[in-house]
Parts: sequence; structure tokens; C-alpha cells
Amino acid sequence: MTDVKKTMVAPSILSADFGNLQRDIEMLNASEADWVHLDIMDGVFVPNISFGFPVLEYVNKISTKPLDAHLMIVDPAKFIPEVRNIGAHMMTVHYEACTHLDRTIHQIKEAGMKAGVSLNPHTPEYLLEDIINDIDMVLIMSVNPGYGNQKFIPYSLDKIRRLKEMILRKNANTLIQVDGGVNLETGRQLVDAGTDILVAGSFVFNSADPMKTISELKDL
Ligand code: DX5
Ligand code: ZN
Repeated sequence: MTDVKKTMVAPSILSADFGNLQRDIEMLNASEADWVHLDIMDGVFVPNISFGFPVLEYVNKISTKPLDAHLMIVDPAKFIPEVRNIGAHMMTVHYEACTHLDRTIHQIKEAGMKAGVSLNPHTPEYLLEDIINDIDMVLIMSVNPGYGNQKFIPYSLDKIRRLKEMILRKNANTLIQVDGGVNLETGRQLVDAGTDILVAGSFVFNSADPMKTISELKDL
């Protein structure tokens, strides 16, 4: 049998049971999950607040998987040291929240992390054309950020195809991550469109067997 490269999966603990956070993170440790996705919200950039750094320090103590921090906050550059201190290997900021995105990307890298840039559903991928070679990962939001368990926005698929084409054309090593409404059906379409990493919250944590669900996503 040939060795087929599996899709990367980053479960979002926004949908974990916070009363049993240690149990849920230990489940992820034992699973095929590649990264643990952390949704940090401020109630300003998005209409919701999730969890802050004290909770994430605890997650870092328990998790054996790399931490993937998705900052849904205004002025995320202010928090680069805090994000590094919770052990994140990837810090993703929103295009819409950064006036000086080029500077922020370089500050994240200087702090020793990989730099990701996220696009809200309405933001076109071509805005990243000039800096794509400096970005380690683009996170395409396939829902409006702020909440788990929302419905997948189908026009995201065309944006992913165009982004993949741009990355190949510019000879960049940038990974494509997609977040929002991911399940086995949308996941299949996303992988076909060029997605490297699937984020999944409610589909994993609300399933009867989260470890099996993670394996099924990886096989897409
Ligand atoms: C949405 C967050 C997502 C969220 C995804 O604002 O960025 O990471 O947890 O949740 P699901 O997979 O349930 O759509
Ligand atoms: Zn997210």
C-alpha cells in the first residue's frame, strides 16, 4: 500500500466541556489530532468572549499537542508575549484587525512562533498577494467568527481554490487552514479545494466518539 498523506486536523476546544477540560484535552492527546485550536475572543472584534490566558496556561500544561492560537481580538500584536507564553506554536491574527499586518507578522516570527493570517468570509484572498510568501498559514473563516456550531458558508470553497492557485503561482509554502462548520461532508469538499488543515469544534466534541471522528476527518 502506498503511504497516503493524511489531512491535518485541529480540534477547537471552544466546544469542549469546560467542566471536564482536563479529560477532553487528554482525549485529544490520545487522538490523531495534529494540533489543538484555541479560539481567543474579546467581545469587540467578535460578539462573544471565550477564554483568556490563565485558562490557556492550564491547557498548555496538559496538552501534548502543538497549540494553534486563533486571535479574534482587536490589536492582536499587543498580546504576542502572552501567546508565546502559553506555548503556542502558531499565532493567527485577523487581516481585518491589523492596520500594520506586515509588521505584526514579523513580530510574531521574531517571538519564535509561526505566523498565520485569518480572513473573515467577506474578505478576498487577493489582499494577501503581496505578503503571501511571508505567511506560514492562511486561515479561511467559513463562518462569521464568534461562535461554534454555525452553518458552513459555501462560497468559501471558491476562495480556497483561488488561494491555493495563488500559493502555487507565488511558489509559497503557506498552509491553508479552514475553520467553521466543518464536518465529513464539508471537510471532503474543503480538502478537494486545497485545504491542508481542518479545524472542527462542535462536530468533534458533540460526536458520540470524538477520537473516531478525528480519525475520520484525517482520512478525508
Ligand atoms: C469560530 C471559531 C471556530 C469554532 C468552530 O469563531 O473560530 O474555531 O470553534 O466551531 P465549529 O467547528 O463548531 O463550526
Ligand atoms: Zn477558530
